[in-house]
Amino acid sequence: MSETLGYDEAGSGSVLLLVHGFPLDRTMWAAQLSGLSDIRRVVAVDLPGRGKSEGVKSDGWTIDGYADELARVVDGLGVDQVDLAGLSMGGYVGFAFLGRHSARVRSLILIDTKAADDPAEAKESRVSTAALVREKGTTELLGGLLPKLTAPNADEAVISAARTMFENVPGETAAWDALAMKDRVDSTPALASIGVPTLVLHGAEDQLMPVAGAEEMASQIPGAKFVSIPNGGHLSPMENPTAVNQAIREFLAN
Ligand code: MLT
Repeated sequence: MSETLGYDEAGSGSVLLLVHGFPLDRTMWAAQLSGLSDIRRVVAVDLPGRGKSEGVKSDGWTIDGYADELARVVDGLGVDQVDLAGLSMGGYVGFAFLGRHSARVRSLILIDTKAADDPAEAKESRVSTAALVREKGTTELLGGLLPKLTAPNADEAVISAARTMFENVPGETAAWDALAMKDRVDSTPALASIGVPTLVLHGAEDQLMPVAGAEEMASQIPGAKFVSIPNGGHLSPMENPTAVNQAIREFLAN
């Protein structure tokens, strides 16, 4: 099955492809679309089943499947390669894309993400999350997950924008995200063989994935640059877009 993913774009020239996290959508990248369009054709995609993208499938999705859909987007954009940035689940998709479509990746930007797969208890929790959102909707995650997504003192505007995404992502879609993440492979063994320039960005106040883990991940990727984002939690591109955009700008200039 071939889905056509929807996206927002701004700017021209070489493509910077942005992949959102869970349970979010392309709108999380608003500040990167406006702030980086002078140096790249910035494309913020919706993964299947939300926003501008069709694609709720009765037999579900995998992280590899999401990566293959991204490859179709790259084909559709008419370019050979992209700079690929993924946040959290988007980073998991980024690892899969690099593994399956390596020739299409000019550089990799890993934001508020990790390489490891889920431990056994986290896999069980994904199954419960999937059942919950499928039955009651993604807003069921507002109480437990949303407060952990931002730094403790995040702006209300950021929290509100994240809440809107939770409200807009269909429960069935969030369920497939959760099950896809449960079944993802451990990308840690592949870190040492990443052969493209890589930037690891991580919110200094990320409550879901401690920043130390990201620094350790960066140390395993040959030549990778690591930047800690002050006043940023798990949604650092929304919480401190100035620092995130500056780091991406410097990385892409080199
Ligand atoms: C995300 O932000 O995409 C998710 O929190 C990642 C995860 O649950 O592993």
